[in-house]
Order: sequence, then structure tokens, then C-alpha cells
Amino acid sequence: MNKHVAARPRDGFTTGLGVIFATLGSAIGLGNIWKFPSLTGLNGGAAFLILYLACTLLVGLPVMISELSLGRRARANAVTTFEKLAPRQPWWLIGAAGALAAFLILAFYTEVAAWVIAYIFKAAFGQLSSVDPQVTAAAFSGLISSPVQSLLWQWLVLAMIAAIIIAGVSKGIERMTKRLVPALFVLLLIVIVRSLTLPGASEGLVFLFRPDFSKVTWATVLVAMGLSFFKLSVGMGTMITYGSYFRADQNIPGTAARVMLGDVLVSILAGIAIFPAVFAFGFEPDAGPSLLFITIPAVFNAMPLGRVFMVLFFLLAAFAATGAMLSLLEVPVAYLTERLNWSRVKATVTTTLILAVFGAGAALSGSILANLKPFGMTLFDLYDFSSSNILLPLGGLFICLFVGWRWGLGEVRRVLSNDGRLRNERIVQLFFGVVKFLTPILVFIVLLNGLGVIKL
Ligand code: TRP
Repeated sequence: MNKHVAARPRDGFTTGLGVIFATLGSAIGLGNIWKFPSLTGLNGGAAFLILYLACTLLVGLPVMISELSLGRRARANAVTTFEKLAPRQPWWLIGAAGALAAFLILAFYTEVAAWVIAYIFKAAFGQLSSVDPQVTAAAFSGLISSPVQSLLWQWLVLAMIAAIIIAGVSKGIERMTKRLVPALFVLLLIVIVRSLTLPGASEGLVFLFRPDFSKVTWATVLVAMGLSFFKLSVGMGTMITYGSYFRADQNIPGTAARVMLGDVLVSILAGIAIFPAVFAFGFEPDAGPSLLFITIPAVFNAMPLGRVFMVLFFLLAAFAATGAMLSLLEVPVAYLTERLNWSRVKATVTTTLILAVFGAGAALSGSILANLKPFGMTLFDLYDFSSSNILLPLGGLFICLFVGWRWGLGEVRRVLSNDGRLRNERIVQLFFGVVKFLTPILVFIVLLNGLGVIKL
């Protein structure tokens, strides 16, 4: 039997709207609520926002369209996709590197999601009720320095996403994200109304929208580019896997553009929910990753009805994180079910157990493993840095090279026009030029400069 022919009928997304919500659910995540605000706060506000938007348009979006096209053309997991499209050539390594990146990302991502869920309860039960950041900092370090709490919350998160993944692509991922994504928009709007109606809110808006480029360096550009990969879930095969579940009549560039806009909107809305409140109460925006867990609780406690809004806020963060984690976990699970013909239960349970081991490295970075610092970073930071700023850009670079040089215009046109049924030749041409030259060159330059390999 041909090893590429799946023995089981392939699951997939069932409606056009389901595709949008699942894909948007993958893109929207802690990247919007945790990474984007903390990086924007650290790197000078509006200037970083502009860099990030440019990277999203010129790098993230083209890679996303590429991945979705590859997946839908091959109708297979990220590794098999390349084996099918380029038999007996080493391109499948892109998919294999992607699977590794999925583990690294999930390892720290599930821990941040774990803190978020712990915070829903801590906020609800009044354990975070202080306007003093030193008190909320103590609460946070109490959480991360406790190995038991860190591990248990992470295992809870792992069990939760494993259960949804086992339910399947249409009955698990699609059904969940169709509820979570709209709910998170509603919650976000509620929090924004609260934040914007605080006296002194405008200073936060100025920070977010008036650029000051004095803080921008090549390292900042690399971080902005890494964020654009991370945000759109590209560079490691998530969107290849999701593309393989797309319907044949789905307009790929149209879907990708909508998802990109929806995702950027959520990041900006998260910024509008956070920075006005931060400035209104005289806090600093540059707390970095702990912005969400130390500054934000203090900020919420300073406002009327803060506890309610804090619970809503962490709830929406948990909703966002779920769709993203599902899409990450689906990458290895799709590979194992199709390639080794494992059942979904076996594939998911095995992956989750391996993840628990990797994840413990991140979970224990605040306690037992705090002094383990390969390359001068804790395991948590190493997972985060190496995936976003190295593996995803490298994966994205090779995906562009594959689509632009190995695949060529003919194949691209066929997939993007749904075999000639869509009249989108201009989009096809524009996309092809960008993905063949502009995006790979940009990624290459930013990567080498950001890592300090060359100096421009
Ligand atoms: N995009 C998600 C977020 O912003 C994270 C994510 C999901 C991701 N799947 C991914 C990042 C694949 C990189 C690759 O939170």
C-alpha cells in the first residue's frame, strides 16, 4: 500500500465560517494578550507596533498563504505534505523541524496558560486584591516558585486541550473555536469600555499610537518579526496542517487576509484594554512578560469593580490560549495518526505525555530549575526565544523558498484560484512576487542582523 494513503477517512472543517473561526482561533492567543502588550510596552509603544504591522504584512501573511496552500494541495500533515509535493527530497525536514518547534512552543505556552487559569481563580477568590505591584509580584512569584502549583496547573491545561483534540478536527477544534472566538471578542470589548472610561486614559493611547523610533534596533526588528510569525501561527506547519482541513472551495488568500486582520485587531484592542489603564493609574508599561501577571492585577484593583473585570480579562485570555494550543497540538497528532496510522487517542495521549516532560522544563524554570541556564536563559526563555526568533523564521524562510522556487507560479495559481474557479490573477501575481523574493530576503536580513551574525 502507498504509505501516503491514509487508512482512515480524513476529518476536516465543515463550514466556511468554521474554517475562519478555527484559523482565527489558532492565530489569536496569548500572543495578543501577553506577548504583544509586553513587547510593545518594552520597545517603545507605537514604533514597535508599526514594525510589527509591517512584518505581518510583508512576512507573516505571505507565509500564511503559502502554508495554507501547501496543506490544502497535499491534504496531509506538515511532514507528509512535503514528502508528497517533493518526493525523495529533503524538504520534509521543514515539517520535522516544525514538529520540534511545536513541542518547544507548547512547553512554555501551556505554562503561561496555566498561570492564566490559576489567575482566574485567584482573582475570583480575592487573592490578587492589591493595588501595590509589590504585593501582586509576590503573589506571582508565589505561583511560579511553587513546583507543585506550576506543574499541576500545567497538567490541567494539557488534559483539557488533549480532551478537545481527541474529539477530532470538526467535533473538537471547530466546535470549540466557534464558541470561544466570538466570546472572547465580547469580553474584550467589555474590558475596553472600562479601560477607556478611566480618567487619564488618553496617555495610554498616545503611547500606543504615537511612534518614537529612538528605541528601535535590529534586535527589536527581529523581535517584531518573530512576533509576526508567532502571532499568525506560521513557520512550523500549523497552517499547513489547518490548510489540509480547508474545504476545496475556500478562498485561501481571502481567508488568510481576514484572519490576519482579525488577529491584528485583537492585538490592538488588547493594547487599548491595557495601556490606558496602566497609564491612568501611574504604572510603567515596560514590565515585560510580567506585565500581564503583576502590573495588570494591580491596575484592575485600582479601578471600581476591578475584581469582576479582572476575572473577565483572564477568562478571555484563557479562551484565546485554548484555540492556539489546539492548533499546536494538532501538528504532531496529525502526523502520528496519518503517518503511523495511530488512533487519535493514542497519538494525543503520547504527545501529551512527551509534552509534560518538555513542559516541566518551563514549569520548573521559576523554582527547581531556576539556575539551569543554557545560553544564559532559563529553559522557559530558551524555549520561547529559540522558537519565535530562530525556528519560526527559518521555517518560514524555507517555506517561501519552496513555494517561490520549487513549486513555481503554475502550482501557486492552481491552488490560490481553486483550479481557475476564482478570478484572482492579480492577487496570485502579487503574492508570487512577494513570496519568491521580498519575504525570504527580508527574513534572511532580519534574522542575521537580529542574531548579530552580520551588522548592517
Ligand atoms: N498564534 C498563537 C498566539 O499568538 C500561538 C500559536 C498557535 C503559534 N499556533 C502556533 C505560534 C504555531 C507559532 C506557531 O498565541
